[in-house]
Amino acid sequence: MSQEEDLFIHQDTLAKLHENLPLTEKLSFLHQVIRQDFPFIDRLAIALFDEKTEILKTYAHSTEGNDSPVTTYEAPLSAAPSLRAIIEHRRPRLVQDLNIFDKGTQEHTQRVATKGYKASYTMPLYQSGTFIGFLFFNSLQAHPFEPKILRQLDIYGHLIALMVINELTAIRTLLAAVRAARSMTHYRDLETGSHIDRTAHYARLIARELASSYNITDEQIEHIFLFSPMHDVGKIGIPDNILRKPGKLDEAEFDVMKTHPAKGREIIDAVLEDFSLETFGHANILRNIAEFHHEAIDGSGYPNGLKGDEIPIEARISAVADVFDALTSRRTYKAPWENEKAFAMLRKMSNAKLDYDCVEALLKNTDKVLEIQQCFRDEEIV
Ligand code: C2E
Ligand code: SIN
Ligand code: SIN
Ligand code: FE
Ligand code: FE
Repeated sequence: MSQEEDLFIHQDTLAKLHENLPLTEKLSFLHQVIRQDFPFIDRLAIALFDEKTEILKTYAHSTEGNDSPVTTYEAPLSAAPSLRAIIEHRRPRLVQDLNIFDKGTQEHTQRVATKGYKASYTMPLYQSGTFIGFLFFNSLQAHPFEPKILRQLDIYGHLIALMVINELTAIRTLLAAVRAARSMTHYRDLETGSHIDRTAHYARLIARELASSYNITDEQIEHIFLFSPMHDVGKIGIPDNILRKPGKLDEAEFDVMKTHPAKGREIIDAVLEDFSLETFGHANILRNIAEFHHEAIDGSGYPNGLKGDEIPIEARISAVADVFDALTSRRTYKAPWENEKAFAMLRKMSNAKLDYDCVEALLKNTDKVLEIQQCFRDEEIV
């Protein structure tokens, strides 16, 4: 070995973090690194707090054996007194033996304990002083955490906090920029806020139902939820006389309308470039939803005529959410349909236009569909 090469014998242990990986993958990588020194750390998990709804939801985890006790869990923070106490103290909480928690409570901590975890170290995460969520270090052993170990875990904890903040900031920037683009056109008059909320919630309902069979992570579910309502951003490039036409579009007009998915993709790419977010991993979920939400399972869709699995799952999910809400909402060109009629239409479109599993996932949850509709009603416009 030359003297020069001697200078480069060490590979930075965390070099993998330079790569553009989803947070879930960065977290499992860090977990492996942590386990080299502390093999008793069996699980790392992040739960995020939504300030608007005061709901805490699981976001990412890395679990030995991958049997996570709490995926797709969400609950009001008020239902978790032991976690609330952490925020009140503004300090991490150390539980050397989870048996101290009353078996009667239903909260996150309890669900972790019932999976055999004996100890946990929980750090509250802050962004510029504002509480944003929790990071959990769990162990199947009791009493594993010594002060020296905790000092190491604190450093990892802050590293993970910065990674989370980085992701959340990227998502916020992206959503704000796409929203700003939309609000600069008349298009916002056509799609109401409630339509946006409903589409997001239908998409999340479907994604959650399919999560285990399609290996969709909590992190991906959250991004499908956030990005589904942006599917039609390309409509801002469609002239008003077509977009707002009260009647049926003729063939030429529909050909123009069919350019909206590609236009959406272009707008999103431009926004990503302007905000230097091209490497933001989850941008693909947004791009795919915008570009492929009108592709059809049988290949008859647009713009690319993709078939079946060639259509990304997030686009297949968004398509069902979009069509169902389009059918049950008033459009300039149609009256709203009753749910039963819309469900029947989804069934008819299933396997040809729409993905069978995505349609079934929605139809299986008609009670939740009703809840979403009740929660996000359109104001009657006279
Ligand atoms: P959109 O209003 O958001 O509708 C999204 C999709 O929902 C439609 O995609 C279609 O698959 C489904 N959909 C909506 N209404 C109906 C309906 O009455 N019957 C059935 N069977 N399906 C329906 P599609 O067809 O590719 O249309 C894309 C966009 O083109 C629509 O978005 C809408 O903005 C526009 N559009 C489609 N048809 C008409 C029309 O007759 N008149 C006008 N003014 N716009 C139309
Ligand atoms: C912050 O305090 O906002 C930075 C995140 C952290 O390291 O906890
Ligand atoms: C808008 O179109 O004005 C809002 C977009 C969104 O919140 O999804
Ligand atoms: Fe569309
Ligand atoms: Fe749409």
